[in-house]
Amino acid sequence: MSRKRTVVLISGRGSNMTALIAAAADPSYPAEIVGVISDRANAGLGIAQSRGIATKVIQRADHPSKDAHDDAIDAALTGFGADIVALAGYMRILGPGLVEKWQGRMVNIHPALLPAFKGLDTHARAIRAGVRIHGCSVHFVTPEMDDGPIIAQAAVPVMVGDNEDTLAARVLKVEHRLYPLALGLVAEGKARMEKGHTVLAHFADDADNATSVVMAPDPLREETDLEQLARITP
Ligand code: GRF
Repeated sequence: MSRKRTVVLISGRGSNMTALIAAAADPSYPAEIVGVISDRANAGLGIAQSRGIATKVIQRADHPSKDAHDDAIDAALTGFGADIVALAGYMRILGPGLVEKWQGRMVNIHPALLPAFKGLDTHARAIRAGVRIHGCSVHFVTPEMDDGPIIAQAAVPVMVGDNEDTLAARVLKVEHRLYPLALGLVAEGKARMEKGHTVLAHFADDADNATSVVMAPDPLREETDLEQLARITP
C-alpha cells in the first residue's frame, strides 16, 4: 500500500505536527508528511525543517484577499501532491471553496470533546463550565468551524485545582497520541467521510484498532482506579 502524502498546516509551536512527523517516521505508518505550511514565519517550521521536511510560509498579509490566500494554500497543497491535509493548530478559518475541495481529505484536531467548546479558550471554558471530563477530538473539516464529523476522541479527567495551563497540558499529551491514530485511520481508509458522517471500517479482526477511536483516561481503564478517580475529582 502506498503511503498517503500528507501536508500539515500550522500557525504556532507545532507540537501536534511534531507528533505526526514522529509517527510517520515509521515506514509502516500509512501516511508520510511531505510538507508543512504555516501562515506565520515564526511558527514551528524550524522543527519540520530539522526533520528534513519541506516548508512554506503563506501569510495572509502577502495576499490581496482571503480568497487569494486560500488559492495560494490550495496551489501549495497541489504542489506538494497532497492526498491528505492535517490542520494542527492552524489558527485561520479556511474558506468554503477550499474546504469543500478537500472535504473528506482534510482533518483537524480540536482541544475539546466536540461538539462541546467549539472555538477558542476551550480549557478555560471547560473549567468554568465545571465539566469533570475534557479532552480532544479529531474531525473531518467542513466549512462550519469545528463542526465536521468526528473521527476519534480522547478524554482526560479535570482534576481538583486544575487551571487552564494544567488542563491544557493534560489534554495536549493525549492530542499527541490521538492525532497519529486518527490520521492513520484516515490514511488507511478505515475512517471515511460519507454524506456528512464518519464511516468507520469494521475492526472485528483488529483488536488494537477496536478501541482506538476512543481513548479514555488511563484511570478509567481499570475498574479499581475508578474509585481513585472519584477521590481526585471534585
Ligand atoms: C492544540 O491544542 C490543538 O488542538 C489546537 O491548537 C493547539 C496547537 O498546538 N487546535 P500545537 O501547535 O500543535 O503545539
